Amino acid sequence: MNFEERIRCDRIKNKVMSAEEAASLIKDGMTIGTSGFVTGGPKAVPLAIAERYKNEKIKLNLYTGAIVGDELDGAFAREGLVDKRIPYQTNKDMRNAINNGSVKFIDMHLSHMPQQIRYGFLGKIDFAIIEATAITEDGNIIPTMSVGNSPTFVSTADKVIVEINTSQPIELEGMHDIYEPKDPPYREPIPITKVSDRIGVPYIPCDSDKIAAVVFSDMKDTTLQLTSINETSKKISDYLIDFLQTEIKRGRLPKTFLPLQSGVGNVANAVLAGFIELKYNNLNLYSEVIQDAVLDLIDADKIEKVSGTALTLSEEGLKRFYANINKYKEKIILRPQEISNNPEVIRRLGVISINTAIEVDIYGNVNSTHILGTKMMNGIGGSADFTRNAYISIFATPSTAKDDNISCIVPMVSHVDHTEHDVMVVVTEQGLADLRGLSPKERAMMIIKNCAHPDYKDALMNYYERSIKKHGAVQTPNLLDEAFLWHTRCLNTGNMKI
Ligand code: COA
Repeated sequence: MNFEERIRCDRIKNKVMSAEEAASLIKDGMTIGTSGFVTGGPKAVPLAIAERYKNEKIKLNLYTGAIVGDELDGAFAREGLVDKRIPYQTNKDMRNAINNGSVKFIDMHLSHMPQQIRYGFLGKIDFAIIEATAITEDGNIIPTMSVGNSPTFVSTADKVIVEINTSQPIELEGMHDIYEPKDPPYREPIPITKVSDRIGVPYIPCDSDKIAAVVFSDMKDTTLQLTSINETSKKISDYLIDFLQTEIKRGRLPKTFLPLQSGVGNVANAVLAGFIELKYNNLNLYSEVIQDAVLDLIDADKIEKVSGTALTLSEEGLKRFYANINKYKEKIILRPQEISNNPEVIRRLGVISINTAIEVDIYGNVNSTHILGTKMMNGIGGSADFTRNAYISIFATPSTAKDDNISCIVPMVSHVDHTEHDVMVVVTEQGLADLRGLSPKERAMMIIKNCAHPDYKDALMNYYERSIKKHGAVQTPNLLDEAFLWHTRCLNTGNMKI
């Protein structure tokens, strides 16, 4: 490791200390804001904090970009260190702590979080703990595999702990584009008119006097496990690609295509992988996460430019990325989540959003976050940042879950994340429902007919027809005493079927 290359600022060389010493700076009741968006979170310092306080049970508020590794969410949850957690997580111990009430979780639109911190709505950030590739001559921070909320944590925190990760290649430098908007009444238009526009600086600006500690580590990111592309996701992808090509033929999408956003998880990755079959060689992605399928598209020469806030690759994907970092770097820009998910930019660019649902109801409302209406899965993430502002907003989901015991098309969603007003297209392996220009009753017919699994189609139609019989053809027919019967039956028996 070349120490001078990693820490170029002479003024802070005397701040280098062990993770244990840095952990001692964190005190009960503090709010810490960390880097991390699947990748790029600090590791050695959080583990040292969890170890130091495991018998003292102090409480901290933990704010991150989004998902962080087990060294942070898992270790903190197991030691009972977290009071409040914002804005997104997928760790099983953190999820359990949220669902058993020991952690207060605020599920927040990812683009809202940095401005709400600057506005003071979420309290003061005591410490920013940021994973870095290097620190520049002036004390500025070069992030690693994600940007997330780090610029705002650094600009608003009282003090900063930098964890320099020497397992991250120095070649990451230059991949980031950091821009923090001013707050109203001084906010200006964000000057992105093309996915490839760079509008900021390649480092997180940081006053070197704020840096309280620099810790060296070489711990690797925990990678995402993606399941292989199966028949269901292949069918979903085929329906979607067919739909988008028809849109071009009808003149409702430009021949040059529009930038794509693709959400998190297995389904989203598989859907994007299907774009490899498209004849276009100049696709642009204006997305939040960059999953493995994007590397496939770059390798197949299908990509002009990709903008996101995080590289969220599987182990295999990471190996590929590191092996060809300079090639991928040319195509990828990593931005703060406030910019990657910015409604103003998403609407200006005309992004086509593709996100995944847990369940969709017959009128097109979508639940992305809650299992059976009560238990938190991961969070809304950036799905609504994109959905509400997209040129075409698409939700993809298998039509059933848990060996067909659960229908993902239900009479009424048990929790609403995306309303019928925001959702334009629903697609399952059964087919695609284009809801644009349809009234609620037309939408119901289309969703049941095209998207529901055969095991549930008749029951959904029966529910819909009895709703009309009971109330007449009102705007949105529903049987309120029956709308959640499928969910309660599933809670009692593990099965939604009658
Ligand atoms: N009821 C109960 N469980 C359900 C379900 C339902 N209706 N639908 C899906 N599930 C379960 C699956 O069985 C699976 O469980 P397992 O982990 O025990 O196997 C799990 O939820 C994940 O489902 P999967 O089909 O593998 O989808 P995914 O990995 O694509 O994740 C979401 C789907 C909705 C959970 C995920 O996309 C998400 O968190 N979205 C919200 C945030 C977001 O969209 N961010 C993108 C912004 S850029």
